[in-house]
Amino acid sequence: MFRTKLKNASIAITFNDLVLLPGFTRSEPNEIDLTTYFSKNIKLKIPFSSAPMDTVTGSELAIALALQGGIGILHRNCSAENEVEMAKKVKRAGSYIIRDVLTISPNQTIEEAITLMTRHNIHGLPVVDKDKMLIGIITWRDVRFTARDQLVKNVMTPREKIISANDGITVEEAKRILQEHRIEKLPIVDSNGRLLGLITYKDLRMQEKYPNSIRDEEGRLRVGAAISPFDLRRAKMLEPFVDVLVIDVAHAHNANVISAVKRIIEEVSVDVVVGNIGTYEAAEDYITKIDDVAGFRVGLGSGSICTTTVITRAFAPTLFATVNVADAVNDYKVRLPVIADGGIRTPGDIALALALGASAVMMGNIFAGCKESLSKLVSIGGVFYKEYYGMGSARAKAKRAALDRYSIPSKDIVEGVEGLVPYRGGVEDVVREFVAGLKAAMGYAGANNIKDMWEKARVAFVTPLGLNESKPHDIIIPQQKMSWGY
Ligand code: XMP
Repeated sequence: MFRTKLKNASIAITFNDLVLLPGFTRSEPNEIDLTTYFSKNIKLKIPFSSAPMDTVTGSELAIALALQGGIGILHRNCSAENEVEMAKKVKRAGSYIIRDVLTISPNQTIEEAITLMTRHNIHGLPVVDKDKMLIGIITWRDVRFTARDQLVKNVMTPREKIISANDGITVEEAKRILQEHRIEKLPIVDSNGRLLGLITYKDLRMQEKYPNSIRDEEGRLRVGAAISPFDLRRAKMLEPFVDVLVIDVAHAHNANVISAVKRIIEEVSVDVVVGNIGTYEAAEDYITKIDDVAGFRVGLGSGSICTTTVITRAFAPTLFATVNVADAVNDYKVRLPVIADGGIRTPGDIALALALGASAVMMGNIFAGCKESLSKLVSIGGVFYKEYYGMGSARAKAKRAALDRYSIPSKDIVEGVEGLVPYRGGVEDVVREFVAGLKAAMGYAGANNIKDMWEKARVAFVTPLGLNESKPHDIIIPQQKMSWGY
């Protein structure tokens, strides 16, 4: 029996085991289409998502990534209220019409107006009464040199001097009004003068500057949020402000997790992605036991900060998990996106994941190194780094909310390390570099789009000696400039 078990053991393939074989192509890298799905209903322009970790994804990184066509998944190592606040911030940024407008009342003080504007990094506030009727606007220019104890109503621009518009106004029309009157903000009101939203010039400009940005039906940037499957309250609080919820446990193939996920899916109307899972059987159980799972986040132990495998020997490397879950999804004809999570270092790793059935990847390490990540920038000997630690590390565990993810099954075990990653610059530059690399890889593989990657791209095993030859060799490189880690 045990000999059979050993004989039937799978090969837990990882990124380093495989290479992409060249394939016939007619197209150039700039003709390659990277559009894909993160979950059943959430389309992306590039197949990248950021990991929900408290050194990685907060509102700033989520905004930057959505502007580039990917999606940020907000971390949950904080109170539900804080996570909701992060989501609201993304929804307020760069949307065509801001619906959840920050307002102030006429009897508040200039001090309060300044605090609100500073905290939310905005330069103006509509003034409304208790029935939400628009009665004025106050801007940074009005408050800058005004006594702090003055009341808003004495300083604001009154209603009769405000240019406003009704709901349903087109982008072009709004732009024309803003330009014609040389104003920065256009309040949207109903026929009674009640405030319904706000259009700002800055946001309209952002839409032009980032044509690849991904947005919801109301023109707001898309964002996802991580939740524990056992925290229905948080799921419901986040639901109005996010496009997708991501179940965030280290081992989702667990009876209690499956029943809790079922409950969450029944109670919320946004897409729910389940993870992490690493086997065909786990995907099969979810597909057959729960209707309406919206995608799978896969991989167990490949993350750059993981010590799960060192400690437990449990391992479903990201590539192995991708192949198995993608096959289950295909066999059951459910067409759910598979998100390859953990261990991605290069565009080539992403290409391999796509070739083996992924729709998108999730990156922690790469995005932690970005300017917009939540982690601290540190300088050592004149070189910049950013802090990065696992969500199962002692550091993250000290923040109580992280406990349930890595406390099962080994409650007292630390399953992640703390360290530094090279500072990489802004998300925009990092994404540009990864997109260029990925398109080049797809060009070599003979693929024009992600479906082609699934159907046409071929892979081969590489020997350990071959792996050495695949990197620069027999040359002295005085200064290493590339970040691909050879
Ligand atoms: P990268 O390689 O991008 O991987 O750093 C990010 C992914 O790693 C997972 N993760 C952990 N896994 N212990 C683990 O075993 C941890 O402390 C830990 N923290 C994060 C997670 O799936 C993330 O997306």
